[in-house]
Amino acid sequence: MESMDVREKMIYDGDPGHDDVMAILLAAGNPRIDLLGVTTVAGNAPLEMTTRNALITMDMIGADIPVAAGCSGPLVKPLYTAPFVHGESGLDGAKLFEPKRKPIQKHACDFLIDTLMESEGDISIVAAGPLTNVALALRREPAIANKIKQLVIMGGGRFGNITPAAEFNIWSDAEAARILFESEIPKVMCGLDLTYQAVATPEVMERIRAIHSPVSEFVNDFMTFYNNNSKRAGKNGAPVNDACCVAYLIDKAVFTTRHLRVDIETKGEFTYGMTCIDVFRMNSGRELKEPNVYVGDKLNFELFWNLMISSIASLG
Ligand code: RIB
Ligand code: CA
Repeated sequence: MESMDVREKMIYDGDPGHDDVMAILLAAGNPRIDLLGVTTVAGNAPLEMTTRNALITMDMIGADIPVAAGCSGPLVKPLYTAPFVHGESGLDGAKLFEPKRKPIQKHACDFLIDTLMESEGDISIVAAGPLTNVALALRREPAIANKIKQLVIMGGGRFGNITPAAEFNIWSDAEAARILFESEIPKVMCGLDLTYQAVATPEVMERIRAIHSPVSEFVNDFMTFYNNNSKRAGKNGAPVNDACCVAYLIDKAVFTTRHLRVDIETKGEFTYGMTCIDVFRMNSGRELKEPNVYVGDKLNFELFWNLMISSIASLG
């Protein structure tokens, strides 16, 4: 049982992004988390936008947490952004402004490597965008594999949201995902099966609005856009996918996990980017591969939103 007074050190790698911003707010507003930095990658929007959105978030909460810009595209395939979900800015709905804060003058991969190599091996990485930065950092300095306490990935699942088979983060750079899923780094995967349970319902939105603070207004603005966009896509509200990863670092009771084998498809015409999850431990006469990922299963909805809302309230 982890001691409750030890803060969980983490670096957030993502593509802000409505749900990335919620994850960053959850981390920055919870006393159990020591957010050491945010590294940005192209994904929901081009790198310039995702980095700007991270800096806007830091301005909004008055936090001097380093933001390091990373890769502007995947390892192999071309960049494919998601303005149909997040808008051209990557954070449509929010009252955006030119941020006062600037990114640090260090590439995200170097920030990850330097911070991890100087550490005691007690830093968790939340990766909630295309996995290009983290995979490239591992290629550049393989020794970080022994320095990452755990890699909590938002990605994958047993269904897709960008193709029938694949989830956006994995699909955006399946080669990067394969490097990490085949590594020995301890991994937790928050796939769509889990994260689609973390929907911002009208009742949740009412609780956020009732906080009546500049940060809650910021959240209400961009989450209203994100919710409406999700409804247009036939969903009953927006899943705050990325925040599930941070919630797990705060309290492991926020969702159950299953230790399963997960392999990444990088060749399929219809299945590129699929997380092939061996749910039933099938061997079908072939070599039975050992489980390599703790896969998120059932969300404690009330605990998740209590954590999320108390973080927003604490940030003023
Ligand atoms: O598929 C959802 C994921 O892709 C989320 O992390 C979202 O922010 C986008 O990066
Ligand atoms: Ca994301």
